[in-house]
Amino acid sequence: MKFIAIFVIALHYVLAINASPTKTKNDPDEMVIYQGQHDIVKIYPSLPLMEELQKRVVFFLEADINNDGSKIDQGLYVIVENSTTKLHDNGKDIDGDAEGKVFFACKEGIYTYNRKENKAYKYGNLNEGIISLAVENSSGIIYALTKNHDLYKISDNGSKSDVDNRVKNALEIVLDKVDNLYYYDNEKNVYQVKDQRVNKIEGLPKNPSKMVMIKIPALVADVEGIFVLADDVPYFIYSNGTSIRSPQNFGLTKTKPTAFSAEGVLVFYAAVDKKIYEFNILAKIISGVFSKIADFFNFF
Ligand SMILES: *[C@@H]1O[C@H](CO)[C@@H](O)[C@H](O)[C@H]1NC(C)=O
Ligand SMILES: *[C@@H]1O[C@H](CO)[C@@H](O)[C@H](O)[C@H]1NC(C)=O
Ligand SMILES: *[C@@H]1O[C@H](CO)[C@@H](O)[C@H](O)[C@H]1NC(C)=O
Ligand SMILES: *[C@@H]1O[C@H](CO)[C@@H](O)[C@H](O)[C@H]1NC(C)=O
Repeated sequence: MKFIAIFVIALHYVLAINASPTKTKNDPDEMVIYQGQHDIVKIYPSLPLMEELQKRVVFFLEADINNDGSKIDQGLYVIVENSTTKLHDNGKDIDGDAEGKVFFACKEGIYTYNRKENKAYKYGNLNEGIISLAVENSSGIIYALTKNHDLYKISDNGSKSDVDNRVKNALEIVLDKVDNLYYYDNEKNVYQVKDQRVNKIEGLPKNPSKMVMIKIPALVADVEGIFVLADDVPYFIYSNGTSIRSPQNFGLTKTKPTAFSAEGVLVFYAAVDKKIYEFNILAKIISGVFSKIADFFNFF
């Protein structure tokens, strides 16, 4: 099967996860790797760390989500194999590079993961609250968006922070796998930053109330760009700046997962109802278990 097909299945699967809230058959509890007291608002599995350590390494953020959509941070955690450790009291975002370096956006600036000590340490010299960050694949460059919506480009091992004037009023940033930067502003318009130019992405809904941007994993060889959900309607934005509505709607009208990650493609993670689920797609397909799980989630 081509990776893109798996990716689509993965997304479809994750997004369909809440479609059938009543547990009936094929209880998937065996796939629950964490259960907490708060909503899980971000999951970042580090594939390079998993490969290197031959262990499950999954970072996540907990928060309470208010009715107006605002979030109260409840901590940054890592699951290493079967044990969960709190790394920091607050956290707004997580991203990492191809070498397994992982960074966190926190109230006090950027933190980074120390795998030997299983702890997070302050990185660089920004002391402002960071709300979103994106790490280039292998250059060591980090983009960090402050709560005042200034975008910093951080280089030289954290010691150099330059304001990036190309980007104004950004609420969230993401990089695609070839390191094009995307952001959306307070009107939920999506922009792509390429060289010195900022291009507004056309073809997306006007003024959606909710915008989610997702990096298309490096394993998906066929597509460069990002995937967005505009009021839960899925679109692809290609690295050439064009967008198309995804041919699949992934059953999104019914589904409201709080976080998910397709980073791994073959192993991926979804958070629903304060739990983190781990799905090994390929194994499930091969073993035939997949269809049973899909059945559970009312997928087909
Ligand atoms: C982690 O948990 C799984 C499932 O309970 C178990 O099979 C595995 O041996 C555990 N790994 C370690 C290192 O304890
Ligand atoms: C990302 O970095 C890794 C490791 O340096 C490299 O092998 C890979 O080709 C890079 N991917 C892209 C899309 O540039
Ligand atoms: C980056 O900074 C860390 C911590 O100060 C240091 O241990 C490391 O050697 C530095 N790396 C480079 C490439 O300068
Ligand atoms: C942009 O990229 C997509 C995906 O590779 C392709 O289908 C489309 O034709 C391209 N559009 C332009 C204007 O180059």
